[in-house]
Amino acid sequence: MERTKVTVPGIVRAKSASEPIVAITAYDFPFARIADQAGVDVILVGDSLGMVVQGNETTLPVTMDEVIYHSRMVARARQRALIVGDLPFGSYQVDARDAVFNASRLIKEGAAEAVKLEGGRAVAQTIARIADVDIPVMGHIGLTPQSVHRMGGHKVQGRRRGNAPGQRERVIADAVAVEKAGAFAVVLEGIPMDLAAEITDRLTIPTIGIGAGPHCDGQILVLHDVLGLCDSLAPKFAKKYADLWGEARGALQAYAGEVRGRVFPGVEHSFHSLKPVASDEAIAAEA
Ligand code: KIV
Repeated sequence: MERTKVTVPGIVRAKSASEPIVAITAYDFPFARIADQAGVDVILVGDSLGMVVQGNETTLPVTMDEVIYHSRMVARARQRALIVGDLPFGSYQVDARDAVFNASRLIKEGAAEAVKLEGGRAVAQTIARIADVDIPVMGHIGLTPQSVHRMGGHKVQGRRRGNAPGQRERVIADAVAVEKAGAFAVVLEGIPMDLAAEITDRLTIPTIGIGAGPHCDGQILVLHDVLGLCDSLAPKFAKKYADLWGEARGALQAYAGEVRGRVFPGVEHSFHSLKPVASDEAIAAEA
């Protein structure tokens, strides 16, 4: 990808140029700046913040105001990456008017450059309405975490065995519907890699995979999984490139040990009183 500011047309061009798109989630200024400096192309302010930042079991409790709050912090860190804001559960399902209103809030108040929403054929008209007012939309199909209760958990979708017959065809139909509706890219989450390869071949818009194997046009992961910022096991599809949880716990244990042992603060972290200067003495003498 180009070294200059990443744009929506740039993401679309990356597919024809066969350049892998690198995406990650972020939820605040420091990590967004780190991701941007690392050369990540797309930063998603995902509703996964409900789980990895807020500590909920699912993404469902996340509100529009919360995504906007986090998106604003992330957007302040942006230099090169494209910022995509996630529309949370309930913010686009009621009707298309609501969806356009909330998508506009993410652009206007959250300073995002595009929005993402979950679903295929069922939300195609909503995608079209948002795209019609020139807000770029990223789709998200397959394992859609906002449908956790329908799926009976965060389960891989579109598998021949263990899932309802025809599910694979339904995932393909969702992908085609999202493209037709005018999305500029689509996240493929939690589907078999051969299905992701088939969809990637079929679509002209880029596919961005998470738990969808190596044949997508790009990859996205949750920041906390990549950096090891959680004390639970990362999902099978994620790769942990660091252990920041362990690093941070070790650092705080060291801090606690030094305070308790009266090692910190040392003289080098402390201030000295200033010697009186002549004018101070004159003021004191007059008083
Ligand atoms: O909310 C999120 O972080 C996401 C990504 C996992 C694609 O939707």
